[in-house]
Amino acid sequence: MHYDTDAPAPPGAGPFSSRSGTRHLLGLEGLPRETLLAILDDAERDLARLSTDRSPTDELRLLTVVIAMFEDSTRTRVSFQIAAKRLGATVSTFSSHGLSLSKGETLRDTLRIFEANGADVIVVRHASPGAAAYLAEQIDSAVVNAGDGMHEHPTQGLLDILTLRQVWGGRFDGRRIAIVGDVAHSRVARSAIFGLATLGVTVTLAGPATLMPAEVERLGCALARSVDEAMEGADAVMALRIQRERMEAGLLPSLSEYTRVWGVDAARVRRMKPDAVVLHPGPVNRGVELAPDVADGERSVILDQVANGVAVRCAVLRRCAGYPLAEGPGTSSPGRRAGGLTRGAA
Ligand code: CP
Repeated sequence: MHYDTDAPAPPGAGPFSSRSGTRHLLGLEGLPRETLLAILDDAERDLARLSTDRSPTDELRLLTVVIAMFEDSTRTRVSFQIAAKRLGATVSTFSSHGLSLSKGETLRDTLRIFEANGADVIVVRHASPGAAAYLAEQIDSAVVNAGDGMHEHPTQGLLDILTLRQVWGGRFDGRRIAIVGDVAHSRVARSAIFGLATLGVTVTLAGPATLMPAEVERLGCALARSVDEAMEGADAVMALRIQRERMEAGLLPSLSEYTRVWGVDAARVRRMKPDAVVLHPGPVNRGVELAPDVADGERSVILDQVANGVAVRCAVLRRCAGYPLAEGPGTSSPGRRAGGLTRGAA
């Protein structure tokens, strides 16, 4: 099954809105700069509060959040669960295993079952590019894309950008990041590229030609011939996971060859600026795309990325619930059924 992401968007559709006015988050491509920064600001407020007070709030107590993972996940699933519970929502989590999809039910009908059970927000991960956008057109619940095949993973992109904002002291202009490895299969890279470009960050891509997207120039990034060239003088590097599960045979001669030519190791890290950092969206193939001493080293912000996940997802859930972030979630009265979503405004 493939959902066509190149199809024209329906009237009123956008990365954070829909025809019906429900607030979806489908991708970072086209997300306005002010919206992106408002989400980051809201996440920062959560981080500040969580540093002194870890008790749950009741901000979304009237909402039901369904987390539907049709592909494996650790970080995204756990952090959405914690975020929704922290905001007081009712939360239900599913994976494809154990659902009636195995009996022939369609994905659309499955999500309509969630909706009929009162789901206000559905967080969905699926192997098909465009699946979240397709579902957003089929149901009234707000849809959050938690990764759709090789297309986008917007909440990962947001937490990556939040991590960079922290280490860069809030300044994006004049910064450059190298994104290295399996760009072709990486929804994380695409979301990061779109979001970082919106904020004025220069992105340099490096990786084997077989692992670059067919129309890579359309992403608007600089292209380096080697990982050394990409990382030279950079402010950060993001190593990408080799996605063996999405690869056809023959894209790489061997993993050891890949590591030698494209792996991020300590010598290559020293090519960057002295305060440059190392990101990886996880899960890490240690010793393949990233050397273990770098993954655990002082330049690594991999666990900071993970730690920012809950706060970013709190901010996204609030926005999907229709709360105006700038005013704070307590100031808006939900407008749909028992505790639902404010409609008609994106
Ligand atoms: N980065 C990321 O999406 O991780 P998971 O697959 O563990 O959710």
